[in-house]
Amino acid sequence: MKPSAVGYSRPESVAAALDALADLGDRGKVLAGGQSLVPLMSLRLARPEHLVDINRLAELSYIGVSDEHVSVGALTRHGELLASAETASAQPLLAQALRWVAHPAIRNRGTVVGSIVHADPAGEMPAVLALLGGTVVVASAEGKRHVPAGEFFLGPLESAVQPGELAVEASFPVLPPASGTGFAEVSRRRGDYALCGVATLVRLAGDGTMAEARAAYLSVGPTPLVLDLTDAIAGAPAESTAACRAAGQRAAGQVDPDSDIHASAAYRRQLAAVLTERALREAAAYALTRGPGDWPGRAGGSYSSRSFERSRRGPAELGTDDRHEVQLIVNGTARTARVPARRLLSDCIRHDLGLTGTHVGCEHGVCGACTVLLNGNPVRSCLLLAVGADGCEVTTVEGLAGGDGALSPVQRAFAECHGLQCGFCTPGFLTTITAGLRANPEPDDDQVREMLGGNLCRCTGYQNIVASAHRAAELTRAERGEGGEGGGT
Ligand SMILES: Cc1cc2nc3c(=O)[nH]c(=O)nc-3n(C[C@H](O)[C@H](O)[C@H](O)COP(=O)(O)OP(=O)(O)OC[C@H]3O[C@@H](n4cnc5c(N)ncnc54)[C@H](O)[C@@H]3O)c2cc1C
Ligand code: FES
Ligand code: FES
Repeated sequence: MKPSAVGYSRPESVAAALDALADLGDRGKVLAGGQSLVPLMSLRLARPEHLVDINRLAELSYIGVSDEHVSVGALTRHGELLASAETASAQPLLAQALRWVAHPAIRNRGTVVGSIVHADPAGEMPAVLALLGGTVVVASAEGKRHVPAGEFFLGPLESAVQPGELAVEASFPVLPPASGTGFAEVSRRRGDYALCGVATLVRLAGDGTMAEARAAYLSVGPTPLVLDLTDAIAGAPAESTAACRAAGQRAAGQVDPDSDIHASAAYRRQLAAVLTERALREAAAYALTRGPGDWPGRAGGSYSSRSFERSRRGPAELGTDDRHEVQLIVNGTARTARVPARRLLSDCIRHDLGLTGTHVGCEHGVCGACTVLLNGNPVRSCLLLAVGADGCEVTTVEGLAGGDGALSPVQRAFAECHGLQCGFCTPGFLTTITAGLRANPEPDDDQVREMLGGNLCRCTGYQNIVASAHRAAELTRAERGEGGEGGGT
């Protein structure tokens, strides 16, 4: 399935975006990272008439850390927030939970605010916002409103953001003194949506005993569920496994999950007990490392909310198949295509540009076969509209070899270690490993498996693919003259 015809505009300012959304009302939809919206469109579960693409709104790409809040702009990607050391120090729960959001290629594109607005009951960011009592700043052509987390999540995939509105910021309180946080979840495959997950916050009393415990659950109800578990742990030493276990049992009695094809309600309730204990122990241990009364000073100026000027309105096209010019640098060469807004980047690469090395399997972001590098970062090309990639550099599998046609170290390693069988998944593995080794040239085995966790091989040849990634790391280091055993080339 492919998305249906859709109008498209890409405003250059927040004011212009708000005006476009006001004109469109319930016929318009905000396109942020597209990591949920594009697959829903491909499956025809969403058929918006017009997309307002906010990816050029650089003013919404920020992380602001003050003594009170971590403020995240609507264009901040999951991967950017996860990489922010200042954020991890001010509110560690964000990094603890973000590691569980999908795969690196999806975190490179998906936005934190988009996750929250999407309000998936299995999403980590909604649960984190709910536990911490954060706020979402929602703007429209009429002005701004601050919506507390407790009023934001209305039902599965339903938030307080109304047609014509744009969520511009999510704000998370920093870690309170003498407190720690934890996060645990279980999914069928690393990076999949959780069967059950829990975020926890524990506060210690001055004598090192536990004084307060709260937990927020994902995948056990239509919206994030926040439970106060203080009664089960109050007065127990921070190291008390028994108290955390008792809190887990209490939580299991209070959650009311559904059964579905992924897990029974009973299994989810059991997970709630086990994961609560695990995440509470992590939070208490974290709090102990800080010590009672600790309030780490944080550098960085405080963020002040911005106001947006009104702009002149222009007419928006609705549900059209009008063609847009897209200019790309593909494998170092300037390329132009004229495509309808609904054209997926994967289809543009294959059909408009004739580069059929990029393969498509699932076309909804799960298999990783279509992974290409966008401005050097791995992304799912089936989850991007070609119009959204306008002006970007794209590297496909055809661009990995050197100018003289010599295979890259990753390609040589695949040949040497028999990393391919039918080869269908191979282009996605090659691009993913190429980018992964740039980010981490010396991965250990766990890190290699994490790097590859978002790519499926239907032949299940994973052992040789993992071996190929290790060998590619050696070959890359040898090529750079950094040691490692180069082997024959
Ligand atoms: C294979 C796969 C696995 C995934 N696993 C996980 C996971 O484990 N955990 C998880 O939490 N997510 C997961 N996701 C979803 C992913 O994290 C998305 O990035 C996220 O849910 C939505 O963010 P986005 O920026 O891509 O939003 P988009 O897809 O662009 O938009 C999603 C919805 O929110 C609306 N929206 C977005 N931003 C705004 C805004 N600023 N104002 C108003 N409306 C807005 C859009 O109109 C749309 O309705 C997964 C996705 C895939 C494909
Ligand atoms: S992830 Fe894009 S085709 Fe499967
Ligand atoms: S080698 Fe056959 S799908 Fe991966």
